[in-house]
Amino acid sequence: MRALVRETRLSPDTFVYPLFVRHGQGVRDEIASMPGNFHFSPDTLVEEVGAAREDGVRAILLFGLPEEKDPQGSEAWSEDGAVQTAVRQIKTAYDDVLVMTDVCLCEYTDHGHCGVVEGNEIRNDPTLELLASTALSHARAGADVVAPSDMMDGRVAAIRDALDGEQHNDIVILSYAAKYASAFYGPFRTAAQSAPQFGDRRSYQMDPANADEALREVALDLDEGADMVMVKPALAYLDVIRRVKDCFEVPVAAYSVSGEFSMLAAAAQNSWLDHDRTMLEILTSIKRAGADVILTYHAREAARLLRG
Ligand code: PBG
Repeated sequence: MRALVRETRLSPDTFVYPLFVRHGQGVRDEIASMPGNFHFSPDTLVEEVGAAREDGVRAILLFGLPEEKDPQGSEAWSEDGAVQTAVRQIKTAYDDVLVMTDVCLCEYTDHGHCGVVEGNEIRNDPTLELLASTALSHARAGADVVAPSDMMDGRVAAIRDALDGEQHNDIVILSYAAKYASAFYGPFRTAAQSAPQFGDRRSYQMDPANADEALREVALDLDEGADMVMVKPALAYLDVIRRVKDCFEVPVAAYSVSGEFSMLAAAAQNSWLDHDRTMLEILTSIKRAGADVILTYHAREAARLLRG
């Protein structure tokens, strides 16, 4: 009876699995603050993607770490960057895996900000061209979806222009439209070595107190040509997910971020929470709130559990 009348169902088809890639060969270093997640080199990443595919997860989101950081973040758009190399290898190995790439500069800049820095300010407009080059380099490598996470104004239009200018008309843009300046990114910043070296991200990411503003951000990104929009983080912003879902008839993604993952991992290690039940309850709540797509570090383990 419960199965018959259940309103919300999780499916691995709706999961996206975030992964970290760096240069080298044979690398599989566990990220201390995110147990069960690793820094991969392109070759071991291909193996991980194959294993995820076996579990039923066929969409991934790639984050890259550069060989060297500089003020502009120039490895972000390098043809031989870790992400670009990994995309080519994954696409050669598995043509049925949907490859998304995170488009941002913060992993690549020595100051750790998502945009160009002048003095102590993060400059919006000079950043757009660099983001567009980055997205273009991902598209040339074979990415299916580019996902700008920088929160600069106007970047969706700049990226769409650059992609269409090279006939990448069918590349999808998933914009991190409502991305909050959140403490829940802590473990990720350790993993990506992307913590800002001065100040914080509040001049470009959103104030956690604002929800009406999220709707304005989403409307702007859709107007600029975003195909799908994201709310991030997920668990502390379920109301925002619901409002975005109700206001706009587009696919809505929610990113259950590193801090959400690590909180549960730590509690489960101490036997304070039942890991699997809590994980599925969290994912169900995100789906129930209205997310069509869930980006989660639990993708593989949740898919295995759902398969039974
Ligand atoms: C880069 C970016 C961040 C995350 C995704 N893309 C970090 C940040 O904005 O500081 C966070 C992901 C996570 O915490 O899992 N701009």
